[in-house]
Amino acid sequence: MWLFPGGVDRVTMRAMIIAHVSDTHLDGGPRALRRTRLVFEHLRRCAVDVVLVTGDLADHGTADEYAAVRAELVADVPVLMLPGNHDDRAAYRTALLGGSGDAPINQAVRVGGALFALCDSTVPGQAYGVLGAATLDWLRTVLAGADCPVLIGLHHHPIPLHNPLVDGIGLRDADDFAAVVRDSPAVAAILCGHAHAGAAGTFAGRPLLAAPGVVSTTRLPWTTGETLTWANTADLDGPPGVAFHVLTPGGDITTHFRTVQE
Ligand SMILES: [Fe+2]
Ligand SMILES: [Fe+2]
Repeated sequence: MWLFPGGVDRVTMRAMIIAHVSDTHLDGGPRALRRTRLVFEHLRRCAVDVVLVTGDLADHGTADEYAAVRAELVADVPVLMLPGNHDDRAAYRTALLGGSGDAPINQAVRVGGALFALCDSTVPGQAYGVLGAATLDWLRTVLAGADCPVLIGLHHHPIPLHNPLVDGIGLRDADDFAAVVRDSPAVAAILCGHAHAGAAGTFAGRPLLAAPGVVSTTRLPWTTGETLTWANTADLDGPPGVAFHVLTPGGDITTHFRTVQE
């Protein structure tokens, strides 16, 4: 790497590239499978350091769907995942983590110069999200021990996206979450999915970045004369998308959103 000659560790000293995708909703049908394959075939051709998938990996949380997750969400770099409201904790754990039980799935994973704090914001049986006291306590401990920039991942958006349908199923304890984030200067950004829409905002003074949906894109109220309902809010024709986050060793982040064309 010409930027850091002289044997400097390129993984820890150069900017990292994080490919962030979400909501593959693998359901056993051909449509989600085709779009997921399109995205991951593209990512495997890209020079990224890590792939993050922010939930709704499966559509109904069945064992067959998680077999597809295991087969399709693969790359030569680490592929980090967390659960969404369409996932099932017990089936997810059995298939992807090799454990059992339906406790929240929280994981801290170091990749290169970044620590990924992956939080389970799901509430079994509900579309909205809650982190809850136990997960926030876990997160507080992870952040207190961090010696590098931290990217917090969760499925549900903790800020209004100003799209009424989507905002009705966001994170419900965002104020408690914000208090934890504010206490830690190590948090570089918060990365979420669920909205099926690439979006950027601020949360607790940090960047909040939502990945585009693989399976569909949520339509915005101001781009259509139609009244949006759950029956017509998903644009099924537009291409899937990817967010590429470039994270510097100092914790600054720049995001590029791209679609993946068939
Ligand atoms: Fe989803
Ligand atoms: Fe979701």
